[in-house]
Amino acid sequence: MSLLFSPLRLRSLELANRIQVSPMCQYSAVDGSMNDWHLMHYGSLALSGAGLLVMEATHVTPQGRITHGCSGLYCEDNAAALARVLQFCRAHSDIAIGLQLGHAGRKASSERPWEGRGSLAAGASPWPVVGASALPFAPGWPVPEALDLAGLRSVREAFVRATERAAELGFDLVEVHSAHGYLLSTFLSPLSNRRTDAYGGSLENRMRFPLETFEAMRAAWPAERPMGVRIHGSDWTDGGWGVDDAVAYASALKARGCDYVTVSSGGVAASAQIPVGPGYQVPLAEAVRRETGLPTCAVGMITGAVQAEAILAEGRADQVALARALLFNKHWPWAAAAALGASVRLPGQYARAGAATWAGTIPTGAA
Ligand SMILES: Cc1cc2nc3c(=O)[nH]c(=O)nc-3n(C[C@H](O)[C@H](O)[C@H](O)COP(=O)(O)O)c2cc1C
Repeated sequence: MSLLFSPLRLRSLELANRIQVSPMCQYSAVDGSMNDWHLMHYGSLALSGAGLLVMEATHVTPQGRITHGCSGLYCEDNAAALARVLQFCRAHSDIAIGLQLGHAGRKASSERPWEGRGSLAAGASPWPVVGASALPFAPGWPVPEALDLAGLRSVREAFVRATERAAELGFDLVEVHSAHGYLLSTFLSPLSNRRTDAYGGSLENRMRFPLETFEAMRAAWPAERPMGVRIHGSDWTDGGWGVDDAVAYASALKARGCDYVTVSSGGVAASAQIPVGPGYQVPLAEAVRRETGLPTCAVGMITGAVQAEAILAEGRADQVALARALLFNKHWPWAAAAALGASVRLPGQYARAGAATWAGTIPTGAA
């Protein structure tokens, strides 16, 4: 019996298996609105065989977008465009579909990855950015305006409004982006938060804004639907956020009705040396899971079916999220199922590619 292909229940949502399509920005929206690229991208991932598809970081204000091409949910046009993509996926697949909501903070106003990843130059329509403190991400990046109390309230309300819109659109799940050096994670990390008010200093104070935001979102989200958070398990920098902090944060989120956390890392300190390698963030997820008992998703360089199965079998996580492996092979879960002696339900149109047709020569590229 494969654990990877066993169901996972989060509130009223039953996931068919424990593979999550990790949220992946497509940098292809126009004024925050998704388009045909997203129909193709999410339409194909909806047929991936994964149990859960979490759509890309979708920003709660125009200023909170990472790039000009980032998705948003701050106006009715954005909502209508997202509804089109969601309905398209739903028409052809019963995969559970979630949406990640975020605010890029001091890393907003950036170039798309294939344009350089730097902050937008003067001629490229940059916009002013906000942050926890007036500290730039790296030399040459814009100095953010530190959010005052009115600014905090306005960002929190924008998260709530986007949550309400996601509920109206019918998403199965919402995930709060609190990692990768974007706004919420910069409140958490002592490297980026130097505030002297109630939102800075002690761990309790640094967690205050992300927790207030989560609480307000949870209250605006239907009680029967799950809400999770992507957290960071380490800044990979001396004096920065570490796994003990992540445990404390996950416990506080759990107490406020969080249903799962995905444990990622990095992105706050531009100079961090991240030990990237197979499953490199799994020990962070394992610690959070062990110490909090919260359903935990591991992510990062998980590429093999046997590797993914072992992470779950060893009790290191409850779910795995894959990003690049699923871009590389949109049907990774099909191959993983074949490799693990499990099965995924194929749409009728693709049924002739099912495991039974291969007479022992299944192309299990995912093993
Ligand atoms: C193209 C691309 C876009 C990404 N966008 C997001 C995003 O919107 N939100 C997020 O939390 N992580 C994002 N990530 C990070 C992935 O979700 C994942 O955590 C990371 O790629 C490591 O997993 P992998 O080794 O399976 O790719 C992105 C990664 C890629 C490759």
